[in-house]
Amino acid sequence: MTVRLQTEGRVSEGTLLEIADVKTHFRTERGLVRAVDGVTFSLERGKALGIVGESGSGKTVLSRTIMGLLPSTAVLSGSVRFAGQEILGLDARQMRHLWGSEMSMVFQNPMVSLNPLMKIGKQIIEPLQIHLGMDKTNAVATAERLLRDVRIPEPEKRLGQFPHELSGGMRQRVMIAIALACGPTLLFADEPTTALDVTVQAQILELIGEQRKDRNMSVILVTHDLGVVAGHTDEIAVMYGGRLVEKAPTRELFANMKMPYTKSLMRSIPKLEDPSHTRLLTIPGRPPDLVNPPKGCRFAPRCAYAREKCVQHEPPLIVSDTSSEHFYACWYPVGSPEFEERDVEIMTNVGVGGSA
Ligand SMILES: Nc1ncnc2c1ncn2[C@@H]1O[C@H](COP(=O)(O)OP(=O)(O)OP(=O)(O)O)[C@@H](O)[C@H]1O
Ligand code: SF4
Ligand SMILES: [Mg+2]
Repeated sequence: MTVRLQTEGRVSEGTLLEIADVKTHFRTERGLVRAVDGVTFSLERGKALGIVGESGSGKTVLSRTIMGLLPSTAVLSGSVRFAGQEILGLDARQMRHLWGSEMSMVFQNPMVSLNPLMKIGKQIIEPLQIHLGMDKTNAVATAERLLRDVRIPEPEKRLGQFPHELSGGMRQRVMIAIALACGPTLLFADEPTTALDVTVQAQILELIGEQRKDRNMSVILVTHDLGVVAGHTDEIAVMYGGRLVEKAPTRELFANMKMPYTKSLMRSIPKLEDPSHTRLLTIPGRPPDLVNPPKGCRFAPRCAYAREKCVQHEPPLIVSDTSSEHFYACWYPVGSPEFEERDVEIMTNVGVGGSA
């Protein structure tokens, strides 16, 4: 089903990214894997969007689709407009002028993305020379300023060091400096903090937020953890089984979440007072098989509120009664009489939070 959001056709001057009915399927021996299966949303300049969802829900594939970083087994359809230009399906040669200077990406593990054999300085200076045509002196000065921007002490010294000489948090800052080097208008941060401890996580997210404001850059922050995005985004998009199942301004989502799945993600956030060894609560059951997804609501086999209608018919993405910017796909949303009735029953029987 084609989902129509209110933002479609209402291109404001501030819109940077518009995605309409994007499908990214992969040809495999088992058949077509519907990794992203009809996603529509738009993002304004300078705003931060969080994409959340369990492992395998399609967050990274969606980001890579927008960046044009997919293997040749990918079959694409729909539309991705970046600054008004259609970019879906452009090849690497055509995308190259956008990478770095228009969009860039910070990945989860800086040890994988940084070249271990190359000094930090060279890894920042080279893109500046190649993409922005800077001479060496200018590029070195810019690299030092970038390291200072991301709060790396003694930047002159760091430029001469190798990645293994830096702590995990410092390496992630270097990755951010590299991603920011050519002044992108859109930064993807794909699980940028999961490998870091909680204090450093918070600092890195603060840093991305500051840089966003200073540069009027848009940010897409990808994570499986709703708690991570809470204080660092303007809007949140929730993905499940390749579909966008809820999207709302951050405050509105936390106040009035509608999808039982979003609520389950919320329950899986660890509490500050939990001892560090406490396992994260997970949602019982498995994510859907993306080769043969369920025909109705994809969450139905795991949803405590599922009824016959959910199994038979896929719920469309509709606007919430609580905000015209809030969309969700559920027949029996949180807060509806049917939901409340079932919620009381389930909490009484199994306790809040599901199984660990
Ligand atoms: N090249 C590929 N070929 C076939 N299937 C793929 C390919 N890349 C990803 N997938 C599948 O697409 C689905 C979505 O993957 P994706 O990496 O986007 O998940 P994710 O939401 O980023 O998960 P995580 O939180 O673990 O990073 C998964 O089922 C994955 O196995
Ligand atoms: S549509 Fe039904 S199965 Fe799907 S999330 Fe809503 S209540 Fe649960
Ligand atoms: Mg991922």
